[in-house]
Amino acid sequence: MAAILPSLKLDPMHPAVGARVTGVDLARQIDTELAQEIRDAFTQYSVLCFPEQDITNDHQADFAALFGRADTADRTKEDPDNKQSKRGVMYVSNIKENGKAIGVLPDGEMHFHSDGAHRDTPYRATTLFAIEVPSVGGETKFAGMAAAYDALPADKRAKFDTLQARHVFNYNKTTREEMRREDDVAHAIHPLVKIHPDSGRKSLYVSRLMTCNIVDMEPDESEEVLQSLFDHCESPEFVYEHKWTPGDLVIWDNRSVNHARNDFPADERRMLRRYTVSEPDAD
Ligand code: SIN
Repeated sequence: MAAILPSLKLDPMHPAVGARVTGVDLARQIDTELAQEIRDAFTQYSVLCFPEQDITNDHQADFAALFGRADTADRTKEDPDNKQSKRGVMYVSNIKENGKAIGVLPDGEMHFHSDGAHRDTPYRATTLFAIEVPSVGGETKFAGMAAAYDALPADKRAKFDTLQARHVFNYNKTTREEMRREDDVAHAIHPLVKIHPDSGRKSLYVSRLMTCNIVDMEPDESEEVLQSLFDHCESPEFVYEHKWTPGDLVIWDNRSVNHARNDFPADERRMLRRYTVSEPDAD
């Protein structure tokens, strides 16, 4: 009997990064063959958007688990001051109930960053499911960091291949100007260029929000190099901007993509559910 082929359809969303995936219902069981097709598409495009999904927390966690270790601990019950220490599901939202925020990263613009760069073992991937979105703004932008690396002149690529940078994060700080860069905030050091374990492609690993300095470089020079790299990576030729519709499930690869958020009206509701994917040995 002929095998029934999965009907996955891929439409690139931008020359540098991202594809829209249709023909998949994430509320249904995903078999081994389809899971491999989705993973291959993820390796190729780094950002996948599955529109018109009607999924529960469990469906989203099962989807995240196709890519690595899904972080499923419930962070909503935690002490809000201790959010940095745990991995798990959370809501990105500006909605307040009884005067209390129900989620994190509530308002306004967020500069480009890569989730978990402040950890020794960053998040492999992040999934966001759109539940409520504002009528304007609040788009999430994705920068293809492999294309940005490839577009650099050879001498710069060779130089950056040898460097390391320090990354920081403190919760609910959303711009470089606000971010505290002292040693007592969560921080980690990573190579400035990373090689993707599945595609073999090199990517720049720097971001405006989280990268505070290049190791062993004078502060002024480090800031000058970083600012020119941020401007380069954020140029429209590398950036796909996603306008959310409720029911969109988006996954991105933090090893090859930076993301940022546009501002949106503070009096409109925005809520997305976020599950991250970790490396199997991450703490
Ligand atoms: C995030 O950085 O995880 C949130 C992105 C967004 O709110 O669009």
